[in-house]
Amino acid sequence: MEALVKGLKLFYTDSGKSNAPAIVLIHGFPFDRTMWQEQAALLEPSFRVITYDQRGHGQSDVGDGQYLFEFFVDDLFGLLDVLRIDRVILCGLSMGGYVALRAIERCPERILGLILCDTRSEAETDEGKLKRAAAVHTVQDKGVPAFAEGFLKAAFAPASFKETPLVVEQIRKSILENSSRGICGTLIALATRTDTTSFLPSIRVPSLILVGEYDGITPPSAAKAMHQRIPDSEMAIIPNAGHLSNLENSLPFNSRLLEFAKKFIS
Ligand code: MLT
Repeated sequence: MEALVKGLKLFYTDSGKSNAPAIVLIHGFPFDRTMWQEQAALLEPSFRVITYDQRGHGQSDVGDGQYLFEFFVDDLFGLLDVLRIDRVILCGLSMGGYVALRAIERCPERILGLILCDTRSEAETDEGKLKRAAAVHTVQDKGVPAFAEGFLKAAFAPASFKETPLVVEQIRKSILENSSRGICGTLIALATRTDTTSFLPSIRVPSLILVGEYDGITPPSAAKAMHQRIPDSEMAIIPNAGHLSNLENSLPFNSRLLEFAKKFIS
């Protein structure tokens, strides 16, 4: 399905129980909504489940590629408005988690719960900004495939290339389907995003933090720092997984997700 949000077509799925609490699964960069297929199927019997392709990703429009991070948050709220969903549980992985954190900072009254996967609250360091600049150069000079190879090496735990090769292929395919304009626009938005750390102690909704044991992009130390600041939050380290813990080791990921999600249904 598609929705017109801020002048862009955003592709989404809306499944599960229509009268149940809604949960939105927000994908990371530079993937698309298909990374949540397994978790969506798991949640559908008890929740209304929304997945969507963020601007510049998957099937959604790319637009002019001139993005600020806030635009991704505008898109989330715009989609919720189109779908007439007032309050929602947000589950975001990595960039999806950055969106979720900024969304609750901006509109806490619309958020019922948070599931923060392989993500962090801090804004980009100077080193990170320079890495984003190098990544933009790679995309512009060598193309998306060269960027994808470097990204895959950083994202997956080394063992995952042998143990879950189909998952690596699925993610490679999603990255390659994205345009260089969307990828570069998102890299610039990521480099200039705001820091949500000081807001964490104000979070008053049930929050679960999940992180892959070998996540090298948003490591367990970043997850622990959020866990310490978010009151009454829960945290679990997903063993034998890197940055894509929901795909690299879905069994423990799904069981923590489901156990946490039960809080929202009576
Ligand atoms: C992601 O998975 O969304 C990205 O790795 C986020 C980032 O690069 O900061």
